[in-house]
Amino acid sequence: MAPATNSTDRTQRSKDRVIIFDTTLRDGEQSPGCSMNMEEKLRIAEQLDRMGVDVIEAGFPIASNGDFEAVREVARVVKNATVCALARAGRKDIDRAAEALQSRAGPKRIHTFISTSPLHMKHKLRMEPEQVYQAVIDSVGYARNLVDDVEWSCEDGSRTEHDFLCRTVEAAIRAGAGTINIPDTVGYATPDEFAALIAMLFNRVPNIDKAIISVHCHNDLGLAVANSLAAVKAGARQLECTINGIGERAGNAAMEEIVMALKTRHDRFGCDSVIVTEQIMRASRLLSSITGFAVQPNKAIVGANAFAHESGIHQDGMLKHAGTYEIMTPESVGLVKSTLVMGKHSGRHAFKTKLKDLGFELDDQALDDAFQRFKDLADRKKDVFDEDLVALVDDEVASGHDRIKFVALQVMCGSQGPQKATLALAVDGAERTVTATGNGPVDATFNAIKALFPHEAKLQLYQVHAVTEGTDAQAEVTVRLEEKGRTVNGLGADPDTLVASARAYLNALNRLLIKREKSAPAALSA
Ligand code: KIV
Ligand code: ZN
Repeated sequence: MAPATNSTDRTQRSKDRVIIFDTTLRDGEQSPGCSMNMEEKLRIAEQLDRMGVDVIEAGFPIASNGDFEAVREVARVVKNATVCALARAGRKDIDRAAEALQSRAGPKRIHTFISTSPLHMKHKLRMEPEQVYQAVIDSVGYARNLVDDVEWSCEDGSRTEHDFLCRTVEAAIRAGAGTINIPDTVGYATPDEFAALIAMLFNRVPNIDKAIISVHCHNDLGLAVANSLAAVKAGARQLECTINGIGERAGNAAMEEIVMALKTRHDRFGCDSVIVTEQIMRASRLLSSITGFAVQPNKAIVGANAFAHESGIHQDGMLKHAGTYEIMTPESVGLVKSTLVMGKHSGRHAFKTKLKDLGFELDDQALDDAFQRFKDLADRKKDVFDEDLVALVDDEVASGHDRIKFVALQVMCGSQGPQKATLALAVDGAERTVTATGNGPVDATFNAIKALFPHEAKLQLYQVHAVTEGTDAQAEVTVRLEEKGRTVNGLGADPDTLVASARAYLNALNRLLIKREKSAPAALSA
C-alpha cells in the first residue's frame, strides 16, 4: 500500500501549522434547530472555502438522501478545501461516503469512526474490545482502498483506556489512516488531562509520526476551546470545530475562538492556521441568518458586544490607546464600522456594490427583491445603516425558496381587546387572506398563520431585538417552533415588529416543512 496521505499536504507539513477541520455542516447541522437545506449548505461551504478552511466535513452520507446529495454537491462546488464525508465503521457506510465524493476532482477524505470507551463498546455497540480492534483495521483498510486520505476517530476517545487507545491508534495508522482524531465526545475532559492524553499518545504509539493528530472537543463543560488549545500545546495539529460553536448539545469548539486565540497568542502556542480571519464575521452572520440561531451578545469574537466599550473608564482608555482594552482589532475579524449607507435616492448599482462590500452576492431575482425592500425601508426609516441592510438581506435570502410567503398584514391592537390580525399569505403561489383574534397582537398574528396553514408545531421561543438604535429601528425577530421532537428556528426583520414576527414565524414554518421531508434513520448516531 502507498504511504498514507493527507490531502491537506499543500500547506500542512510545517510543524507550526494547525489544520482547521470545520464540521459545521455535519456535527453542527446535527444540533437541534440547525438543519439546513441543500442551497444553504452550499452557501456555508462556499464561505468556509473562501475563508481558507482546510477540511470541510460536508455530512454523513448514509444518514439520509438529503445528506448524501449535500455532500455530493459540496464536493462539486468547493474549490480548495478537502471535502470530507463521515462514515461509521461498516462497509455500507464507507461505500456511501465514497460514492458521495466520487465525482470530486479536488482533494477528498473519508472520515470513519467507532467508539473505543468501555461504556460505549459495552452499551452502545455491544461489542467486545477485540471486535472493535478488528473493525478499526477493516474499516480503515477498506476506506483506504477507495480514497487516499482517510481519517479515523475513536468516539469517546477521552474516556477510553490508555492501553486500548494506543493499540487502536497504532492499528489505524498501520491500516492507512493519515489523520487520527481523538474526540472528547461528551465534553468531559479538562485541559490538563486532555493535553496529557495527547502527550501520552505521542510517547507510546510507535508509528505516531506517520499521522496528523487531531482533536474534536464538545463544549458540555464550556471547555471545548480550552481543551483544543491544550491539545495543540501537546502536539495536535488538526482542530475540529464549527462556526459559532454550534453542534450536538452544548456544541463544538468554536472556530472563531480557536483561530483568534492561535493568532492573538502566538507567543504561547507558536502555531498558526491559514484562516482569513477578516472573513469570520461574515461566516458567523451567514450561519445565524441561515439557521435562525442568534449569537449571544457576549459571545467571544462574534458577539454583538465583543468589541463594544460601555463604561466611561474603558471608553476613556480606548480613546487614549486602543490597546488598553482591545487585544485584537474589530477589523481583524471582519467587523467594519457601522456606516450610514444610502438613502431612498440610491440606485440599484450602488445597492449592489454596497451588498458586495458587506459580503453578499445575490442572483438577479434576489437582488431585485432585496432592492425593492431597501426602497420601502428607506421610505420609512430616516437613516439606513449597514446593520439594516444585513438584516434585510438575511431575511430576504432566508425566505427566498419558501413555500409559504408573507404578503400583507394589518393589525388592530391597543388596550381594548380582542386584538385582531388580517393576514394575507401565498401558499405554493395561491394567495389567501384571513382575520384572526388573539390575546395580544402577536398572538393574533400567529393565530392567523395557523388558520391559513394549520399545523401542530408549538412555539418554544419568541425573541425581538432592535437592529440599530432609535424608535424607527428595524426589529429582528427569532421564533423557535417544535413539532414531534423536531426543532427549527426562524428569523424575520422589518421596521414593524409584527411584520417581522410574522416573517420569522413563517421562516420557521417553512424550515419545518423541509425537515418533515428529510427523514433520517433514528438509529444513526455520530
Ligand atoms: O463527537 C464525536 O465523537 C464525533 C465523532 C464522529 C468524531 O462527532
Ligand atoms: Zn462530535
